[in-house]
Amino acid sequence: MDDFRGKVAFITGGGSGVGLGQAKVFGKAGCRVVIADIRQDHLDHGLKALKDQKTECHGILLDITDRDAYARAADEVERVFAPAQLLFNTAGVSIFGPLEKSTYSDWDWQMGVNFGGVVNGVQTFVPRMIAFGKGGHIVNTASLGGFLSSSFAGIYCAAKFAVVGLSDALREALAPYQIGVSVLCPANVKSNIAEAVKTRPAKYADSGYHYDEETFASLSRIYSQGMEPVELAGHVLEAVKKNQQYIIPYPEARAPLEAHFKTIVDSVTSPESDPDGIAKRQAAMMKYRDEVAEQQRKRKA
Ligand SMILES: NC(=O)c1ccc[n+]([C@@H]2O[C@H](COP(=O)([O-])OP(=O)(O)OC[C@H]3O[C@@H](n4cnc5c(N)ncnc54)[C@H](O)[C@@H]3O)[C@@H](O)[C@H]2O)c1
Repeated sequence: MDDFRGKVAFITGGGSGVGLGQAKVFGKAGCRVVIADIRQDHLDHGLKALKDQKTECHGILLDITDRDAYARAADEVERVFAPAQLLFNTAGVSIFGPLEKSTYSDWDWQMGVNFGGVVNGVQTFVPRMIAFGKGGHIVNTASLGGFLSSSFAGIYCAAKFAVVGLSDALREALAPYQIGVSVLCPANVKSNIAEAVKTRPAKYADSGYHYDEETFASLSRIYSQGMEPVELAGHVLEAVKKNQQYIIPYPEARAPLEAHFKTIVDSVTSPESDPDGIAKRQAAMMKYRDEVAEQQRKRKA
């Protein structure tokens, strides 16, 4: 996709940080932009910034874990503008602490927003994008933590690994509909994510982690050195034009990613160790694929 003029972009978490950067950049490229956010103050701030740069925009207060509200939001997008051709599943939250101390609430909140929210975006918008029939693009925001896990961010990373896996599968599934899929994996962005706990619902208040003003200050210091959201979104724009699968504009990520994938590849046994097994398993897989294709052909006929 390289002509964004008039196309409708729906951006979760669009009131702040990465999402607002995307709203500004895709708005400047000509999109009509709908930002959705759980925080009214973030929505107000985002809409003002978009109006100041003369982007046609609309805001929707939305908790992406609420499936009914998500469907209503998609109806509103169509009523106000038109069906969305660009979907940015960007909203996310983070809280860090020892994995072994995590509570179910720590799990449910982070998985619910960081993975469940993306699932809800996909389930809500993909059928509408296919029905609209004009192609489009989906950008899911994972993280470098979607490839590289660490114990203090275990739940966050589990959710982001899931976002990467979902995005790769979705890319294959939607190619026949001319809908591209990219997954954005930032390392550090100048955003408000240090205060994500403010949106943690009361029903998930029970946490196994320690979080106080000192924690907040340390996190804020890291993110203050992050990439500007508009700069990051510029990389996203270029990636969408090329339908690039992964967007990782952080040179410092290369060495750890190479080391990680080398460890994985080095764990694979050599082809000489089991030639008969390879042949048997590959033949079974080919047969399964042929059978599924034949079953699908029959169902369509
Ligand atoms: N900041 C970083 O360094 C960094 C690094 C890697 C990945 N990311 C990812 O980038 C994405 C955006 O985060 P950010 O850094 O811009 O943070 P941010 O807090 O500035 O923006 C996130 C926005 O999402 C909104 N939000 C939170 N929960 C929501 C919900 N349930 N429903 C709707 N909106 C909700 C927040 O109100 C906020 O406006 C997240 O997915 C995050 O995991 C950020």
